[in-house]
Amino acid sequence: MQTDVTPTERYSRQARWFHWLAFAAVALAYVFINFRGVFPRGSDAAKVPMQGHILFGLVVLALVLPRLLHRLRNAPPPVAPAIAPWESLLSRVTHFALYAFLLVQPLLGLFTVWSGGPLKVPFTTLEIPSPMAPDHALHEQLGGLHENIGTIFYYVIGLHIAGALWHHFFRHDNTLKRML
Ligand code: HEM
Ligand code: HEM
Repeated sequence: MQTDVTPTERYSRQARWFHWLAFAAVALAYVFINFRGVFPRGSDAAKVPMQGHILFGLVVLALVLPRLLHRLRNAPPPVAPAIAPWESLLSRVTHFALYAFLLVQPLLGLFTVWSGGPLKVPFTTLEIPSPMAPDHALHEQLGGLHENIGTIFYYVIGLHIAGALWHHFFRHDNTLKRML
């Protein structure tokens, strides 16, 4: 039987906005970067995937600190019916990893760019100067780490989504409804 969800049993309105905006920005950052190399080299269109990627990646970064502050002051509502201790542990570990990703991944992207030169503000002619000297070896290392973490988190995000759907469709609890 499905559990009814009253407004007080949901995540706060702000927490829900933060969650779904961050989801959209992460998804768009992934979509844009996967279009890199699709357009002819040197064409105007060829710049769009990286600029779109950086734009939405920076949106992720802008959202994460206010979101974490809000989260520290607002505990999530309980899941009903209550979940087993191992499920609670798994969700805590996954949520911690997701928050770390939302903070670290855009910062790594930013410092990948800055270790090579200034950051071009997406879709403008403005530039934000780098706080560091160009360092080719560091640029390569940060870029590699950023790519690897980006690949690993396809799976972590996949696990998170599978968990949410499992709770809703198989366990029939209010986990997902609390976030809607
Ligand atoms: C949550 C946000 C982000 C995600 C999920 C993400 C994910 C990724 C992924 C998966 C790749 C590798 C694509 C490939 O296989 O070629 C990549 C590349 C890249 N990203 Fe991000 N990124 C994010 C934020 C950012 C930000 C904020 C910046 C810059 C300010 C950035 C700059 C770059 C650059 C420069 C590359 C190319 C790296 C290289 O070729 O060495 N990313 N990103
Ligand atoms: C980029 C993709 C996503 C990221 C980075 C992400 C991140 C997070 C984080 C950090 C939390 C913990 C919230 C907290 O307790 O403060 C969370 C909770 C949640 N997310 Fe996501 N999420 C993503 C996509 C999704 C999708 C697509 C769904 C639905 C199918 C979803 C459903 C949920 C639900 C139901 C919760 C509450 C879980 C609970 O309280 O135990 N998420 N998400």
